[in-house]
Amino acid sequence: MIRSLSATTPRVYSVPKLDDYSSAALDRMAAALTSALDSESATVRSEQEWKSFRDRWLSRKSGIITQLNDLLKAAPKEAKREVGQRMNQLRVRIEERVAAAEKLRSGEESADHLDIALPGIRRPLGAEHPIIRTMNEVVAVFKAMGYSVAEGPEIESDYFNFEALNFPPNHPARDAQDTLFIAGQERRPQRDRLMLRTHTSPVQIRAMMQSPPPLRIVCPGKVHRRDAADATHSPMFHQLECLAVDSNITFSDLKGTLDHMCKSLFGSAVKTRFQPSFFPFTEPSAEVYVSCPFCGAKGCRICKQSGWIELGGSGMVHPNVFEAVRDYGYDPAKISGFAFGMGIDRMAALRWDIHDIQLFFDGDVRFLEQFA
Ligand code: PHE
Repeated sequence: MIRSLSATTPRVYSVPKLDDYSSAALDRMAAALTSALDSESATVRSEQEWKSFRDRWLSRKSGIITQLNDLLKAAPKEAKREVGQRMNQLRVRIEERVAAAEKLRSGEESADHLDIALPGIRRPLGAEHPIIRTMNEVVAVFKAMGYSVAEGPEIESDYFNFEALNFPPNHPARDAQDTLFIAGQERRPQRDRLMLRTHTSPVQIRAMMQSPPPLRIVCPGKVHRRDAADATHSPMFHQLECLAVDSNITFSDLKGTLDHMCKSLFGSAVKTRFQPSFFPFTEPSAEVYVSCPFCGAKGCRICKQSGWIELGGSGMVHPNVFEAVRDYGYDPAKISGFAFGMGIDRMAALRWDIHDIQLFFDGDVRFLEQFA
């Protein structure tokens, strides 16, 4: 069968000459132009096709846009205003379509040329941050003793950070000089006021509210204090809290556990020392020292010639703390427990002989990649 040529060759659009410039005639003309524009732009695939599409519609010499100008020139005076406005709208539409066709085409082209055999983009692997690494090591020692890991929020209320931990109402830590408070809470009752937690001890309360005794948990995390940053201070640093509660926990358990922790972390030759101290939430309380693993307690620059390094605070859980969670199964007459809290950043700094703890937080890859 022979098909007539006109059936296979699409009619090529051009702007018709008008003798009727009525709004209805202009509507018809715009509709025909738009549908031709849409169907032609849909056929654009290659760069070459896009270029001839662009020239056919936008070229100054003979493009459709020029034909539109001619139409405007030919329009009678009274119609010029309306014809002009409509021609402008059509021009904008043509320009948009031409730009869109190019975007679509180049997008499809790059999808067409996707070579799945090319090697992928290698993302450089970072190293575990020295603080996280130290934390994980300490956590691992406690996990091996049957402890679980607990976590709590960094934005904490006065109740968990202070009140339930037996801090008196006027304790200096409750002062804005020492603690970073969330602004605008003057109208809230004291116990509901929010702050950045100053230690990981509030997690003790949260963990006891969650599970009845016996309890053995460690909680690693960030804490915040209102300190200016320098080589040994940072307004944000890391602690690890430890809490054990059972029917017959004694101070010997505290000493034995921390001695074991120190030997696991620093080697079996180290000794531990407990020095009386005070915390509102423990009684008795003690500061924990480990004999300097760097000089064998002989005295060196790292232990400042003392032979000992301070690790953190500890003590037997104060009965008032159990009182705060009595309803959750913690009767101070029936149970006892010990708690311990240590700073992680300073330990990491000691271990790698880092003289400025700000290096931990600067995010400088040259520093961090040394731990790979
Ligand atoms: N929370 C105390 C501090 O930040 C440390 C501590 C924890 C002391 C547990 C005793 C028991 O200084």
